[in-house]
Amino acid sequence: MDEEVQIGEVLITADRIAARVRELGAAMARAYAGREPVLVAIMKGCVMLLADLVRAWPGPLSLEFVSAESYDGAKPGAVRVALPPDLGERLAGKPVLVVDDIYDTGRTIAAICHAVEALGPAEVRTLVLLRKCRAPEQPAAGAPPLRAPDWVGFEIPDRFVVGYGLDYRGRYRNLPHVAALRHNG
Ligand code: IMP
Ligand code: MG
Repeated sequence: MDEEVQIGEVLITADRIAARVRELGAAMARAYAGREPVLVAIMKGCVMLLADLVRAWPGPLSLEFVSAESYDGAKPGAVRVALPPDLGERLAGKPVLVVDDIYDTGRTIAAICHAVEALGPAEVRTLVLLRKCRAPEQPAAGAPPLRAPDWVGFEIPDRFVVGYGLDYRGRYRNLPHVAALRHNG
């Protein structure tokens, strides 16, 4: 049976998210001025961020979608990456910006960047909405090295959060704010 959870305190209101994402869009427009980056969005958590970010970003860009899943059980921290088969043709020689909802251990971003770098882009940089303040992790044995995100919307405490794209077991992505999850019992 599912453990009982409740939405706890709101950590970041919808208004603060909107203001910060507009700032990030303007910062990206400056950072990529004169170039045409490919945004590689990690599904599904980044959908809200991506939609708001690109509408605050005047300038040419294109969008690609990838996914990443952590293995359960025997290989903690190992990440399985799924890329569209013809992604390499669209990334080769281009500046790439990997976009994700949250940087926790950093293993997801590390795995995606490693896979994307193998496709021959001009460069790979990263943007996340949230970064958890926590003790640094080591990469799993044989996994790519961790790298700090290049742009961060908000630093948050080491809590499990939901909303604005982030889920708990598939739910709560549609909350307009970011809230902590509270476990009962
Ligand atoms: P990392 O690989 O540990 O950095 O974790 C990144 C991925 O784990 C994110 O893309 C999320 O899917 C998920 N994740 C980590 N922390 C949270 C959280 O607090 N709420 C919801 N998802 C999370
Ligand atoms: Mg995710």
